[in-house]
Amino acid sequence: MIIAPRIRGFICLTAHPEGCAQNVLNQINYVKSKGPIEGPKKVLVIGASTGFGLASRITSAFGSDASTIGVYFEKPPAAGKTASPGWYNTAAFETQAHAAGLYAKSINGDAFSKEIKEKTLALIKADLGQIDLVIYSLASPKRTHPVTGVTHNSVLKPIGEVFTNNTVDFHTGIVSEISIQPANEEDIENTVAVMGGEDWGMWIDELKAAGLLAPGATTVAYSYIGPALTEAVYRKGTIGRAKDHLEATAFTITDKLKDLNGKAYVSVNKALVTQASSAIPVIPLYISLLYKVMKAEGIHEGCIEQIQRLFKERLYTGAEVQTDAQGRIRVDDWEMREDVQAKVAALWLESTTESLPSTGDLAGYKKDFLNLFGFDVAGIDYEVETDEMVEIPGLV
Ligand code: NAI
Ligand code: NA
Repeated sequence: MIIAPRIRGFICLTAHPEGCAQNVLNQINYVKSKGPIEGPKKVLVIGASTGFGLASRITSAFGSDASTIGVYFEKPPAAGKTASPGWYNTAAFETQAHAAGLYAKSINGDAFSKEIKEKTLALIKADLGQIDLVIYSLASPKRTHPVTGVTHNSVLKPIGEVFTNNTVDFHTGIVSEISIQPANEEDIENTVAVMGGEDWGMWIDELKAAGLLAPGATTVAYSYIGPALTEAVYRKGTIGRAKDHLEATAFTITDKLKDLNGKAYVSVNKALVTQASSAIPVIPLYISLLYKVMKAEGIHEGCIEQIQRLFKERLYTGAEVQTDAQGRIRVDDWEMREDVQAKVAALWLESTTESLPSTGDLAGYKKDFLNLFGFDVAGIDYEVETDEMVEIPGLV
């Protein structure tokens, strides 16, 4: 079929298999171009199909020749209906990994559930024995708790007072003021239940209890801080409470891994266009200004550049891992540079619907958004018929 984008708000209902495959190939080629990393050999990536998780899987496999198991939640294709992009990404990744002689298998289902954890543990036991790196990169709007059965929905709200600021509808380019009502206690608890560290801790507990973590095993989860501009809705909002919890969980996990000499880290990453970040109010306007400034400075990075740098210059340098005063690895260092933030803050004040096309990188935002779904990718002919029924070669 001919596949075109069908956009509804901040999601796209269709995905293009060849476009997604090209994106994955570009990421693989980037990692290879940066040379080998003395990194992990057996890697489990939870949230492996898109964004930072996919970049982590690609960097492990093509930077360190690692065997990888990916866990993700994606929609398979049906006749006349495309799969979700992470499905096509994973198919392309596993095809390339197998061609390179690398072990790569995956599990599609709810990573929060007991069933998917058990299935993953069984696969590790049967095929890999022990894991030396676990990447935790889930971004989900909801979580059904495996013990209580309660479904928690996360919200993106400020805490304490109404937050009013500008935002942009990145499809139309219209800049407008929005006000977001503050969260109540239940909103905070629900968001922490979904995006906090409890599930990360459960994964590590179960892997360890089953003897599936190698001595010296490392686990990394991803966090975000960002500037004062977005603080009320991000770091000091409901999602920020979840990130506080995730960051605190790293210490709890490290304690539990002491006998294995293992360690848990949180890496603070840069703001990027992903399916998860497009849904957060105010962030798209911030990202379009940030892209403009970072591209002008020659320091813009996407997920793959961020994660390649995380592995090569933070996690696997041969020396001790450097962290900030709160124990976090920082690869948001270039985003948070004072000169970058001063420029973004100045542009923020002058950005209107009329000026944003020049003050911000709205075109870059839109392109990255379409790229997430395999559209607007260089080298792909979108007028040509394509087969939506793609299989994932390593799907268990
Ligand atoms: P994403 O939306 O691209 O990836 C989410 C992944 O989680 C996908 O592989 C998806 O299939 C999987 N997933 C979602 N629900 C699942 C479930 N129930 N079971 C199994 N898999 C499930 O998101 P992104 O942006 O890569 O986010 C990953 C982490 O990085 C999050 O913790 C996010 O907060 C963090 N982060 C994101 C930043 C950004 O600007 N996008 C910046 C810094 C950190
Ligand atoms: Na991810």
